[in-house]
Amino acid sequence: MCGIVGYIGDKRAQDILLSGLKRLEYRGYDSAGICILEDNDIKVIKSKGNLEVLIKKVDDQTFGSQGIGHTRWATHGKPSDENSHPHLSNSGQFCLVHNGIIENYNEIKTDLTEKGFDFKSETDSEVIVNLFEYLNDGDLLSTAKKVTEKLEGSYAIGVVNKENKDEFLVVRKDSPLVVGVGEGENFIASDIPAILEYTKKIYILDDDEMALISRGDVKIFDGNGKRIIKEIREINWSLESAEKQGYEHFMLKEINEQPEAIRKTLAGRIKNGLINLNLDMSEEYVKSINKIAVVACGTANYAGRVVGHLIEDKLRIPVLISYASEFRYNNPIIDQNTLTIVISQSGETADTLAGLREAKSRGSKIVAITNVVESSVAREADYVIYTQAGPEIAVASTKAYSTQIAALFMLLMELGYKRGSLDESTVKHWVTELIGIPEKMQIILENSELIKKYAEQIKDSTSLFFIGRGVDSVSCLEGALKLKEISYIHAEAYPAGELKHGTLALITDDVPVIAVATNKSLMDKIISNIEEVKTRGAVTYGVAFEDEIKLKDEVDYFMPIPRVDEALAPLLAVLPLQLLAYYTSVVKGNDVDKPRNLAKSVTVE
Ligand code: F6R
Repeated sequence: MCGIVGYIGDKRAQDILLSGLKRLEYRGYDSAGICILEDNDIKVIKSKGNLEVLIKKVDDQTFGSQGIGHTRWATHGKPSDENSHPHLSNSGQFCLVHNGIIENYNEIKTDLTEKGFDFKSETDSEVIVNLFEYLNDGDLLSTAKKVTEKLEGSYAIGVVNKENKDEFLVVRKDSPLVVGVGEGENFIASDIPAILEYTKKIYILDDDEMALISRGDVKIFDGNGKRIIKEIREINWSLESAEKQGYEHFMLKEINEQPEAIRKTLAGRIKNGLINLNLDMSEEYVKSINKIAVVACGTANYAGRVVGHLIEDKLRIPVLISYASEFRYNNPIIDQNTLTIVISQSGETADTLAGLREAKSRGSKIVAITNVVESSVAREADYVIYTQAGPEIAVASTKAYSTQIAALFMLLMELGYKRGSLDESTVKHWVTELIGIPEKMQIILENSELIKKYAEQIKDSTSLFFIGRGVDSVSCLEGALKLKEISYIHAEAYPAGELKHGTLALITDDVPVIAVATNKSLMDKIISNIEEVKTRGAVTYGVAFEDEIKLKDEVDYFMPIPRVDEALAPLLAVLPLQLLAYYTSVVKGNDVDKPRNLAKSVTVE
């Protein structure tokens, strides 16, 4: 959730670090800092607050051409100047940035304190930089090896040594880090967009690997300090795709990118009207699956719930859906006949990764659905389906959700067809429907004016309910989450039939109710539930197919979606809910892309 960027070359490092940090802000933004090596000295500038605060503090007279920078989202110690990175060692010889969590930092800190070290911050990261000083043997690589041997936890570390003007070191474990290769200059970053402006040539470091970065060279070593040769990857993301492209916010841009993102996710995976995910899963194995476990957090979890619901319904395989943060503590009933589906946009979410490892340790095979090539989740899974959503910058996930559902739906079809539970004509029908989704999404996006008006209407509410039945109740979970996280209005998703068992007591004329109703067979039921809330004074909104006249007449305000096979309705039903959350956040004047207390990628438990 924090961000790292580093540079060594012949340009002014502070310019490159600050522009890189700007692109990394979404990873964590309660504080930021940089350090520059200049005239045999390390200059550290850091501060609590957003990047603008730091930029004002940076001295325009600093010309050093080597340095590292960091944006922080607090884990150990509150957001403050002292707790911001980079951290200097006691003598000022080493300077370090760190993403991740050091679990045994207290023991190390006690030990170092007894040896005479003192600490200016409350962070676990300052412990690491002082370990560098304490264990320094004059060789940065071997010192780093000694340091990491003492660390328990996760880390991506960048460290500058005052005595070593021509290079700096990085090392990672369970936290992403890449090295960007330039001409006479090199870069490091926790996220590729931070350095994409400067290079598209990237080394992706694996766990325990270290690299010594100098102006003209990148030397990579395994955990034992042995030099290794890695392949350089060419990244084909354009910088623009990581920027706003004229939209007011990244979130709006990403909502609007959904038709294209779905097209890209389907591309190359449909052959002769059927699905081919190239998963290399034998028919025998597919037939042996007697349970599916879905492990994910937040929005990714809801994408899993949508398709989990359909898997039970259409394939008749029991599905265990778990929040990744709970999964490993619940002694899950998983074995070699369970297929575990792990869903993560970033591919780096700590709980999801731990869930993956838990399922693996119990003999389950893992399918990862992720947006980031070579992410930890992708590397540790047995099979990977990449969503082709492109970089998602807004904290509130939108295009990741819809592409996850599309990818999962393709998996459902492939499994169902191989198992013989779906016939060819059903699959071909769904494939045709899926191909038609982008165009239907576009229709909803082009009619968003209505939703802007509804956002004005609900903006002063303090509480809202989203109700639905069947899979619609899952779309409600996602709608409520979106509204909560960016508009800060309390919202609850409820299976509509459950309301009368207690929650109805909360419905008044101050509590709007949004019903999602895409299931024909349950239409009369949800209409009765809408009646129940209207009787208690609620103003009602409805998301349903445009030709669902009965529902349209029942609710006060209607949000139509084009008709599609009901199995695919969640892909369309979520769009009005995303737009409603977005416009409500905008009219409330909130920081849409960077909602309070949240970070894009949660790489700690
Ligand atoms: C909500 C949101 C989060 C993420 C969750 C998992 O809008 O973005 O709930 O979905 O933190 O993140 P990933 O998919 O990166 O594992």
